Amino acid sequence: MEETELIQATAQHLEQLFSGEGSGHDWWHIRRVWKTATKIGEQEGADLLVVQLGALLHDIADWKFHDGNEQAGPDAAMAWLASLNAPVSLQQKVVTIVKEVTFKGAGVETKPSTLEGQVVQDADRLDAIGAIGIGRAFAYGGYKGRELYNPGISPELHASFEEYKKNQAPTLNHFYEKLFLLKDRMNTATGKKLAQERHSIMQAYVQQFLAEWHSEEKPPS
Ligand code: ADP
Ligand code: NI
Repeated sequence: MEETELIQATAQHLEQLFSGEGSGHDWWHIRRVWKTATKIGEQEGADLLVVQLGALLHDIADWKFHDGNEQAGPDAAMAWLASLNAPVSLQQKVVTIVKEVTFKGAGVETKPSTLEGQVVQDADRLDAIGAIGIGRAFAYGGYKGRELYNPGISPELHASFEEYKKNQAPTLNHFYEKLFLLKDRMNTATGKKLAQERHSIMQAYVQQFLAEWHSEEKPPS
């Protein structure tokens, strides 16, 4: 198969698997990560075939809805690429990305070992911040039946609230717990640049959210 055919076939496969998924891992997330990763990969001089296949397959484990098996994603990615008769070295590079981007032992995402993996991780993180990130966070919170915000709970409370957080922390806490931290965890220079604006938008949003809630909006003059 030609490179473009490998990518097209993989994109179609993922579109079929993920369409209609409502918890933040829909096909459109995959597609955005694919496009953003390609853009970052171009700037960073990464192998764009590996980047694109890695981006398309990075959340394939979530299609099975994490049965707790961290091999599920890498296995599914490998099986898919093997079914296309992709070269073994290519399969290995892509599977390494899926393994390193998917795995979140103890909630800690570690830096992928290859440039291509770092690019895909940056693209995935960019999709969690900014205007789209805000939408995804509240969509996820709604899916889990969580409050938007609770004035009795400081949104900055997280680390010491491990149990509470796991079960039902309001979505606004997720911004402090994770989303505001992502800009400093970008791997590539291009990723860092792209994260800046999205980060500022999120900060302004949360500030406005809290101002509206606590009626601190300025009356029109
Ligand atoms: P991915 O697998 O794409 O890296 P995650 O599975 O960590 O992403 O999360 C999917 C989306 O749901 C992200 O936008 C993330 O911010 C959001 N999300 C995850 N956990 C929470 C949470 N506790 N509260 C609100 N949103 C969350
Ligand atoms: Ni993702």
